[in-house]
Amino acid sequence: MYELMAPREPAGEGPRPAHVAIIMDGNGRWAESRGLPRLAGHKRGAERVREIVESCPDLGITHLTLFAFSTENWKRPASEVLGLFRLFRRYIKKEGARLVAEGARVRFIGGRERLEADLQALMGGLEAQTLDNDRLHLTVAINYGGRDEILRATRRIAEAVRAGTLAADEVTPETIEAHLDTAGLPDPDLILRTSGEYRVSGFLPWQSAYSEFAFVDARWPDFTAEMFAAQVRGFGRRERRFGAVAG
Ligand code: FPP
Repeated sequence: MYELMAPREPAGEGPRPAHVAIIMDGNGRWAESRGLPRLAGHKRGAERVREIVESCPDLGITHLTLFAFSTENWKRPASEVLGLFRLFRRYIKKEGARLVAEGARVRFIGGRERLEADLQALMGGLEAQTLDNDRLHLTVAINYGGRDEILRATRRIAEAVRAGTLAADEVTPETIEAHLDTAGLPDPDLILRTSGEYRVSGFLPWQSAYSEFAFVDARWPDFTAEMFAAQVRGFGRRERRFGAVAG
């Protein structure tokens, strides 16, 4: 099983991805295949989050972005949605102090207005508490959709043009970046999806223009720190050209 997860090339030294973004897929199937409720998979998934977060500094990862809840996930049964939000609250309350102590700077991306006020307050509180940290930049996407993010950014830019504070021909890629939820963050070097699906599901569409992608078969609750390290090492074997020719 582990061999299947390992990168095709033997592990070798090479550039390490500074920013890894992960689509944590497969919690539901992990649980269902064991005859457990789907929420049991999410709970196990949250434990994996801690393990992967803790492994980042040793792997040279300075930025980790996690897709926790998409704008489409509201279509799931209410009990699952409520359960997921209970987990997010518990994670922030339980892991918050540890993240502060470990020097993580936590940010949340995604539209917040649809979230319960108490969750919004917990999120804002953890962001404020970790503002000065920079050992690991942990970004968690909740109620995030790439089209929604670009739409919200476009509306704010259009407002500025209408208000006369910005000229339409002064809108540059940097203007767009500055209006995205990820403003100030570097683009991901590597985007990883677990659970054998070859889709990006609206995750960071603008930011991933030059990212490398890795898809692994393991379901998120089975995705270990060792498998993560193997993917990170595999990244070093790739040649990134950013549209240019090999140098
Ligand atoms: C995808 O599995 C996973 C999610 C929709 C939720 C991700 C949430 C966690 C890992 C829990 C905690 C997260 C944090 C940041 C504390 P799925 O349900 O789509 O799986 P399936 O495709 O097998 O149904």
